[in-house]
Amino acid sequence: MKLRILITLLITTFCFAQGSTTVWNSNRILIVYLSRTNNTKVLAELIHDQVGGTIVALELEKPYPKDYRSIVSQVAKENETGYLPPLKIAIDMNRYDTVFVGFPTWGMQLPPPMKSFLNKYDLSGKTVIPFNTNGGYGIGSCIRTINELCPNSVILDAFTIKGGSERDGIFLTIIGTRELEVKKQVQQWIININT
Ligand SMILES: Cc1cc2nc3c(=O)[nH]c(=O)nc-3n(C[C@H](O)[C@H](O)[C@H](O)COP(=O)(O)O)c2cc1C
Repeated sequence: MKLRILITLLITTFCFAQGSTTVWNSNRILIVYLSRTNNTKVLAELIHDQVGGTIVALELEKPYPKDYRSIVSQVAKENETGYLPPLKIAIDMNRYDTVFVGFPTWGMQLPPPMKSFLNKYDLSGKTVIPFNTNGGYGIGSCIRTINELCPNSVILDAFTIKGGSERDGIFLTIIGTRELEVKKQVQQWIININT
């Protein structure tokens, strides 16, 4: 009788785990993000609240200019020449098998620092999960570039959402009631990619 109860309990726990976020192994999860005006940072933190793991902000050896026009022209040049800005991070990638990568859309492309990251670290055999904020024009060619830079990874469906529009003086928008709405969307996305 006791054994039957134990088996029922185990099956129930297993089924529940399949339909929820409990199957994530937090110890093996890395969340890496690039953020300038904190929209992608808030998204990274909402994801972290759901799945746990290690969270790392991408930092450059030589930070970008604060001025919007200056960064736009610098990024355009870097995209044109294929320049990969050196990063100020050191990650032991062997510790992780699931890597969430978060970034804003810059010039309708994957920002150069995220290209640097994917160039520096070999994510072969790992699961890569992109998330993005943008000024309202979408994710552009970011996913295509991630596919090119991670040819041997399993790449899951991205979460993408409108963030700020620095060009128009709109900075962090994922706050207050909007943050609560985004939190719900993130929770649903995490369930979807996990089933
Ligand atoms: C250099 C630069 C280029 C950008 N290019 C685009 C773009 O091509 N399309 C777009 O929708 N938003 C663009 N944006 C707006 C950002 O994607 C948007 O504000 C995003 O939410 C910023 O994320 P963050 O707050 O994490 O930095 C650009 C912003 C910057 C700074």
